Amino acid sequence: MQPFCVSIRTLLLSVLLSRPGEGQFQVIGPREPVVAFVGEEVVVSCHLNPSIDAQNMEVRWYRNDPSGLVHYYGTSQDHMDQQMPEYQGRTKFLKENITKGLVALRIHHIRPSDEGEYVCFFESSTFYNKAQFKVLVTVSGTAPHIHIEPGNRMDMKMTCTSTGWYPEPEVQWRELQGPHLAPAFETKKIEENGLFHVESSITADKNSRADVSCVIRNLILSVEKEVHVSVADTLFPEDCPWAVGFAVFLSLLAFGATISVLFVCTRKAKGSLKKKHGKLRKEYELLREQKGNIEKKNGKLHEELGLKYARRYAENVTLDPDTANPYLQITDDNKSVKGGDTFQELPKRRQRFDNLVCVLGQQIFSKVPNISFVNGQELFELNYMM
Ligand SMILES: *[C@@H]1O[C@H](CO)[C@@H](O)[C@H](O)[C@H]1NC(C)=O
Repeated sequence: MQPFCVSIRTLLLSVLLSRPGEGQFQVIGPREPVVAFVGEEVVVSCHLNPSIDAQNMEVRWYRNDPSGLVHYYGTSQDHMDQQMPEYQGRTKFLKENITKGLVALRIHHIRPSDEGEYVCFFESSTFYNKAQFKVLVTVSGTAPHIHIEPGNRMDMKMTCTSTGWYPEPEVQWRELQGPHLAPAFETKKIEENGLFHVESSITADKNSRADVSCVIRNLILSVEKEVHVSVADTLFPEDCPWAVGFAVFLSLLAFGATISVLFVCTRKAKGSLKKKHGKLRKEYELLREQKGNIEKKNGKLHEELGLKYARRYAENVTLDPDTANPYLQITDDNKSVKGGDTFQELPKRRQRFDNLVCVLGQQIFSKVPNISFVNGQELFELNYMM
C-alpha cells in the first residue's frame, strides 16, 4: 500500500504544478494593477514561463476584446494597420529581452481613457497563452481653493474648488480637531480633458470662527491636497463695525442733510412768511375797505328798506305845528319836518314839546307801528299815537 500512496502523491503534485510540456509556456503579466499617470508614459511587461525565446512568436496587446488592438508584433516586426486609432503613435514595443521571453509595451501620453483591462497574448506556431492585467490611470489635481462669501444674515458660504483629478476624488471638509463636516452642496463633473472638477460648499455660522480645511484625496495614490482657512474675527466681526460705521456715516449724512434742509427751509419760510404777512396786510386793508363799502351800502340798503317798509304804512300826515319842539322846523304846508340847531321863538302852547324834540301829526291812526330807521347818523322815530 505504501508505494501506491507515494505514487498517487507524486501524480497529484505533477498535476498541480502542471509543468508545461514541450513548446508550451505560461504568460505572466503584472500581478498588481499598473498605475499610469496622466500625461506621462507607462511600461507594462509580460514574460514567459519558462523563459523561452519569443522572437518568432506573435505578441498582441489588446483591450477587453481582441479587436481592440493596442499593439501587434509578429514575425520580427510591428503591424500597425489594425491598431486602435486612440493608440496610434503612442505605443512602443520593447523587445530587448525577447530572447529571454520578456517583452514590454510603453504607452506614451497616458489619458484617462487608457484605464482598463489589458491582455498580452503570445502565440507560437504550436501554442498560445495570455495574461490579463489592469491599468489604473490617475492624476492629482490642483491645490484646492476656498472661496468665502457671506450667505444669509447669519451664515457664510465656503466653496472649495479644485480641478484636474482622476479618478473621481474624495472631497472632505474637516474642522480642526473636529469631525468631518457634511457639505451642503457637492458636484464632481468630468471636463473636456476627461479629468474631474470638484466643487463642494458648506455653510457655517458666522460666529463659529471655525478653522476648517478642504481636503481632496486621490484614492489610488492615497495622496491628498488640503487647504486650510481660519475664519478670524476680523472677517465677520460680531456687529459688523464697517456696517455700523457705514450706518453712522449714513445717519450723519442724513442728519446733516436734514439740518441744511431745515436751515434752507427756515430761511425760505421766513422770507415767504414776510411776503405772506405783507400780502395778508394788503388783503386785510382791502377787506377793511370792502367792509366799509359794504357797511355803507348796507346802511343805504337798510335806509332804503326802512323807507320802503315805512312807505308801506305811508299815510298823508299833516303835522301839527303847535306841538313841534322849538328846535324843529316845520314847512309851511305842515308836511315835513327838519331838525335844526336854532331855537325858534314860537308862540307858547300847552301841547308843545319842550324837552323832547318831537312833533305830533294832526290825524289819529288805529294801528300802532313803531318805525325807526337810521338815515346817516340821524335817528328818526315815528310814533303813531292814538
Ligand atoms: C531587460 O533586462 C534587463 C536586465 O534584466 C533589465 O535591466 C531591463 O530593464 C530589461 N528591459 C525591459 C524592457 O524589460
